[in-house]
Amino acid sequence: MPRRLTGFTPSGDLHLGNHIGAIAPIISGQAAADTVVFISDLHALTLEHDPAQVRRRTLEFATVLLAAGADPDACLFLVQSHVPEHTELHYLLECATGFGEAQRMIQFKEKSRRQQHVRLSLLTYPVLMAADILLYDTAEVPVGEDQRQHVELARDVAQRFNARYGQTFTLPQAVHPPVAARLMDLAAPDTKMSKSAASPAGTLRLLDEPDVLRRKVMRAVTDAGTDVTYDPGHRPGVSNLLTILASCTGGSPEQLAARFTRYSELKEAVADAVVTTLAPVRERYLELDPDHVRLVLRTGAERARDLAGPKVRQVKEAIGLLPPV
Ligand code: TYM
Repeated sequence: MPRRLTGFTPSGDLHLGNHIGAIAPIISGQAAADTVVFISDLHALTLEHDPAQVRRRTLEFATVLLAAGADPDACLFLVQSHVPEHTELHYLLECATGFGEAQRMIQFKEKSRRQQHVRLSLLTYPVLMAADILLYDTAEVPVGEDQRQHVELARDVAQRFNARYGQTFTLPQAVHPPVAARLMDLAAPDTKMSKSAASPAGTLRLLDEPDVLRRKVMRAVTDAGTDVTYDPGHRPGVSNLLTILASCTGGSPEQLAARFTRYSELKEAVADAVVTTLAPVRERYLELDPDHVRLVLRTGAERARDLAGPKVRQVKEAIGLLPPV
């Protein structure tokens, strides 16, 4: 069975973009495919961070993912740093990745521009991602558009490693949702909805209360004119609302546009759809016991190490390390 894997970095709060780009796709396939879902806590250390917040968010993210439907009996569910093979493979893959290749990553360019002190781990961030993916022989990586280049790098590294040291890794590929692979901010629809947005007004957080979600949708920026048409280039605000509606209720943004004559009607429909999608996640989140979540994570890490240990041994041997007796 081909394996599918995806990860979530505990920086900021999970939002509807994360849900549509990766959470819903990985969860909807978990019964049919061999699935790995994890919290990429090590990736949160690549920028300035508050240690207590990373720890708190790691448990919060795990709880939200379980509340959203991740089933630890159907998938492998873990925290990246609990499985040391991720970092072990990271180093081995650094020995098969070019400096220029890492420097060309768009996210590295964008994030490093905003930092005074650029951490070396920000440059090697996609190599750690490649380790996450290749460690489990992953075939498909459900992610939003912003992660596509990183998954391509993982594929390139795997291909190069296989060619140089012998067949070792499965070649992964990114898979994106049919709509909303890049959901935009409601208050600034020319930028993507992001965990690190300057203002929370345009971000529909998974744990926002229903009336907060509703208010954010009703205040969403729309475009000049009054027509409800899907035209992301010229009408980014309305098009983003149609995209949200399509991803929550099904159908295509173009078809849905024909149902509305006024912005206010569209916004009401989007607010209803968002609340219907997210309110149950928040309710289940509030019911989950943190000790239960910790136990799930412990079991997940133990099961993951059974797979990851032999894989790392295989890679070490292929690359030329002497096995211990
Ligand atoms: P992260 O935590 O930034 O985002 C988690 C997932 O949400 C997607 N996403 C979006 N999709 C649609 N519209 C948006 N506005 C939007 N914003 C975010 C992201 O594309 C991602 O799929 N480095 C990764 C985590 C990671 C990972 C991995 C993913 C670590 N190792 C291995 C896949 C495979 C990250 O920080 O995603």
